Amino acid sequence: MASVPTITLNNGVEIPQLGFGVFQIKPEDTVKATTSALEIGYRHIDTAQMYGNEREVGLAVRDSGIPRDEVFVTSKLNNNRLQRDDILRSFDTSLSELGFDRLDLFLIHWPLPAVADYVARWKVMEEIYASGRVRAIGVSNFQPHHLRNLFGATEVRPAVNQVEAHPFLSQDELRAFDADHEIVTEAWAPIARGKVNDDPVIAEIAWQVGKTPAQVTLRWHIQRGDVVFPKSVTRSRVEENFEIFDFELDQSAMAAISALNRDERTGPNPDEFNYIPG
Ligand SMILES: NC(=O)c1ccc[n+]([C@@H]2O[C@H](COP(=O)([O-])OP(=O)(O)OC[C@H]3O[C@@H](n4cnc5c(N)ncnc54)[C@H](OP(=O)(O)O)[C@@H]3O)[C@@H](O)[C@H]2O)c1
Repeated sequence: MASVPTITLNNGVEIPQLGFGVFQIKPEDTVKATTSALEIGYRHIDTAQMYGNEREVGLAVRDSGIPRDEVFVTSKLNNNRLQRDDILRSFDTSLSELGFDRLDLFLIHWPLPAVADYVARWKVMEEIYASGRVRAIGVSNFQPHHLRNLFGATEVRPAVNQVEAHPFLSQDELRAFDADHEIVTEAWAPIARGKVNDDPVIAEIAWQVGKTPAQVTLRWHIQRGDVVFPKSVTRSRVEENFEIFDFELDQSAMAAISALNRDERTGPNPDEFNYIPG
């Protein structure tokens, strides 16, 4: 079985660079999908309160026979948890849904800049971190100006910033900002939700190295130093996405993929996204 590299976060915690994402996996399919991923060798699962499948992720991890401290699990604070008590309660609920006494990473899911105070929410995240029930805390979908506002007003530096990133949205400026501040960038929608399959440049590189477009793209992320967690409910794809540690992209292939950037999002722009579920 290939060994997945780890990255050391700014508080010393190690995170596997490749994980399995469970966004849009229905609760009834999540145990099977997560169990497959764990069988294949994934040791990092990315879920969220908003996904509605924490319980099933927890079941799969606990029933896998793999020691709990060998599986890195992330969850994220839902956008409708804005007040301190609500945030603390929702974290307790995440732990009880997962059936864990400790989470590995907990993120603010979206900054919601026009409708909510992300600095105030971060202060509650700091309280949760201080309680010892989560090994690291971070943010998701934060732009540099959101992060700057946190730095001036809070104590704990986010360990990660999870943002949309793929060849068509390379996020170079934001990734450099994260790196300058010892924040690891995690790339969501790493294969642009399958769109990388239709790109002729990626197809050509894939043909040259004898891999698939998804594998080449995931390898590009790994060599850039980001954390990725592609999602799939198809076991053969979950296997395919794991087989990315037996080849390397040379500099010209890396540069050709980076040159595909066209600042194209598959999801919302965090500066404009202010959705609070009912
Ligand atoms: N923080 C945030 O705001 C945020 C937002 C979105 C996502 N995320 C996280 O990032 C994870 C990944 O992002 P994502 O699910 O949006 O997109 P993604 O991983 O880029 O793409 C998933 C899509 O690609 C297909 N696929 C997977 N592997 C493939 C392969 N080898 N070849 C061809 N198609 C393949 C999947 O199909 P099948 O499932 O049908 O096989 C699915 O339709 C999520 O699961 C979630 O954990 C976070």
